[in-house]
Amino acid sequence: MVYKYYKNQNFEDFACGRVIYGRAGFTNYPVKIAYEVFNRALEYTDKKDNITVYDPCCGGGYLLTVLGLLNPDEISRIIASDVSTEAVALAKENLSLLSEEGLMKRKQQIEEMLVKFNKQSHRDALKSVEVFYDIIKKRGHDPEITCFTADVLDSSQFEDRDFSADILITDVPYGDLVSWSEEDDSLNRFLTNIIPVLHENSILVISTDKSQKIKNECFHRLERFSIGKRLISILQLIV
Ligand SMILES: C[S@@+](CC[C@H](N)C(=O)[O-])C[C@H]1O[C@@H](n2cnc3c(N)ncnc32)[C@H](O)[C@@H]1O
Repeated sequence: MVYKYYKNQNFEDFACGRVIYGRAGFTNYPVKIAYEVFNRALEYTDKKDNITVYDPCCGGGYLLTVLGLLNPDEISRIIASDVSTEAVALAKENLSLLSEEGLMKRKQQIEEMLVKFNKQSHRDALKSVEVFYDIIKKRGHDPEITCFTADVLDSSQFEDRDFSADILITDVPYGDLVSWSEEDDSLNRFLTNIIPVLHENSILVISTDKSQKIKNECFHRLERFSIGKRLISILQLIV
């Protein structure tokens, strides 16, 4: 896969654990891939700004937080859900960094750690806080954030939601989970279950591992490519 948008930009300000909160046991998403795939998804959307972006397997919200910082002019609403309440709590904390209040709280924590441990990593993190602050100030308004707990394998949890995603982007669980398996065709059940929160022009960016096959007759594929261990499919509903 040849990157179309990522051109060796330096994304170290967005490293997990620096300003964005990281916790043991939570996976992240490479920033350069997030940047690349979001921009590819934008090519297909009819809307180019005021975008609602949704990650239904959001984990600690790292991917969405990075997207909110990299695309402040395009994204106006961010929706995060996960089956794990612990993950949703971390996602909420991370997405709070997109507001001045949440970022200032994080700044204070880092300043306290700097006083206590006097580490260069905390000085670097404070510089990254300034980068985040400039993004927030330039944007001028906070994106609307919604976080909730939901199991993508339970269709009833996506009925009557008050949003419709322009871009749904997610890094689905990989095969080691009993509740998410190939035999059970979890990936395709998930795609069918989330149709109520899509509209006819929604674009989906689904990262899987290479063993997971998307075979869902409700969607057609716009693009598919692999990056490292991930297979990325860009899909749209067949209407
Ligand atoms: C690969 S991680 C996503 C990491 C996320 N992209 C990030 O940037 O932090 C996959 C997530 O899927 C969640 N998950 C697993 N089964 C699920 C289900 N049935 N419904 C919703 N989320 C699920 C896990 O709790 C985990 O947080």
